[in-house]
Amino acid sequence: MQQNEVFILAIESSCDDTAAAVLQNDKVLSNVVARQNIHEEYGGVVPELASRAHQQNIVPVIDVALKKANITKEQLSGIAFTQGPGLMGSLLVGSSFAKSLSMALNIPLIAVNHMHAHILAHFIDEEGFDKPTFPFLALTISGGHTQIVKVNDFFNMEIIGETTDDAVGEAFDKTAKILGLPYPGGPLIDQFAKEGNPKKYPFTKPKVDGLNFSFSGLKTQILYFVQKNVAENPNFVEENKHDICASVQQIIIDILMDKLKLAVAETGITQIAIGGGVSANSGIRETLKNAEGKYGWKTFIPKFEYTTDNAAMIGIVGYQKFLHDKFVDQSTVSKARIEF
Ligand code: KG4
Ligand code: ZN
Repeated sequence: MQQNEVFILAIESSCDDTAAAVLQNDKVLSNVVARQNIHEEYGGVVPELASRAHQQNIVPVIDVALKKANITKEQLSGIAFTQGPGLMGSLLVGSSFAKSLSMALNIPLIAVNHMHAHILAHFIDEEGFDKPTFPFLALTISGGHTQIVKVNDFFNMEIIGETTDDAVGEAFDKTAKILGLPYPGGPLIDQFAKEGNPKKYPFTKPKVDGLNFSFSGLKTQILYFVQKNVAENPNFVEENKHDICASVQQIIIDILMDKLKLAVAETGITQIAIGGGVSANSGIRETLKNAEGKYGWKTFIPKFEYTTDNAAMIGIVGYQKFLHDKFVDQSTVSKARIEF
């Protein structure tokens, strides 16, 4: 199906953010996110609370997205939603809403893989942002995933490396918890790291073969390090939080960069795109930018608002699927886990 102007309403509700966006072809007209602060006091996302909050947020969020885009629902060409991976109760809120709206408006329904969307967010048309060309390598780093993906086409990607235990976002969040910082800890570690010395506490890298990652050993290493020092000085964390955060962030960056260098060597591909919540990290962004001059790579760093969970990235996949008639029907099911 081809038409000049395609308007896609996209809905993302895989975890704890309720998000809606409207795209006109590959341009974002609106991108609205309602973050759920309720989880902060629990130190992590509580699935039951997340789905309840999605139910409360979804109608107003979609309403605002349509108003900001300045279009009516009748102008929509299709509805895209996150099919998975994610929390089942959260996914169901978005998919049920998308299904009813597509039925009411009699327009196509498009199911999107959240992890594909983090990668394909680079194809949103944004001034000042280049789009990668196929094939390229994507490093997807989020609260649930750490993957190196060889992206051959919009709909043809292969995972060539992934974490064998914790995701890199968990390494940030669990470190934050050890340091007594609220959830999600990634942004705070990033902030404190800016004023710290990354070489102060040299943590060691795990030994993992090939392109795979492991972060659970690092978490344990940090826990023992903090416990040992707090036993000697109860104010150790407070007095050294900038240096601790900078050192933790540095070892995580080193781990990621080692594997990226190996992936480039193995595939011969030098275009590297990053995606996922952790790609908001300023240390990671800077290191990758510098890799252009240092290693001759071309790196693609998404606009800040397309890094953490958002619906614009679901919309850009929706647009591509719309162009290729990749639709689903009402019987399609949400999937907590979804094959790549
Ligand atoms: O992609 P995302 O929004 O949700 C998932 O699909 O997981 O990623 C959330 C993760 C959290 O672990 C959060 O701590 C991390 O992204 N994060 C960061 C930063 N901003 C968000 N980690 C490090 N530095 C940041 N600036
Ligand atoms: Zn995500």
